[in-house]
Amino acid sequence: MSLNEYFDAAILELKKGTSQKKHPFRYFTLASLQPNTGIGIRPEVLRKVEENLDLIFYTDKRSAKIEEIKIHPRVSGLFYHPKKLLQLKIVGQANAIEDSATLKTYWNGVPTKARKDYTTNLAPGTPITDEQAVDFLENENHFVMVRIQVNEIELVQLQRPEHMRIRFQITNGKWNGTRLVP
Ligand SMILES: Cc1cc2nc3c(=O)[nH]c(=O)nc-3n(C[C@H](O)[C@H](O)[C@H](O)COP(=O)(O)O)c2cc1C
Repeated sequence: MSLNEYFDAAILELKKGTSQKKHPFRYFTLASLQPNTGIGIRPEVLRKVEENLDLIFYTDKRSAKIEEIKIHPRVSGLFYHPKKLLQLKIVGQANAIEDSATLKTYWNGVPTKARKDYTTNLAPGTPITDEQAVDFLENENHFVMVRIQVNEIELVQLQRPEHMRIRFQITNGKWNGTRLVP
């Protein structure tokens, strides 16, 4: 397989992550720079892969990661496909989508049950007592979308006789791959 074929196959899998409920690329681990501990890390659901390969996920605008990416937009995302033994590590700049019309359109597409993820009365991460119930807002939400402008995708394909590791970087809108020692 050529480097380009590895790239195309990887992107196809990434897109499946947004359309197939059980696909392992539905989830990725997002790493960011946390101002106090230095490390911010958590799983996210991949919602959309845009034409230019920007990635979109949804969150609550009060969550720690939103503050973190405001200060340090550079993030990394890790995808792992256990059956295919395929790892994709993406690197890019993350920013919250502020446009209210866009947010409204996508909010309208969030199923009623899932809306609770963006409507807690208190901000995510607020300490509460063991007995305290989590209250939800009725007519407002803190839904936000985050776009990751991806500029690097590193692929590791475990296989015999030789593993494959390729770093793809985008320059002037074109992705170029460099093979690396695995
Ligand atoms: C399987 C799984 C998927 C998750 N997906 C999302 C998601 O798409 N968006 C989100 O905001 N939080 C998601 N979470 C919760 C986050 O991982 C995290 O706990 C929360 O957003 C607070 O993160 P922060 O304090 O680092 O901002 C998910 C958790 C799990 C276990």
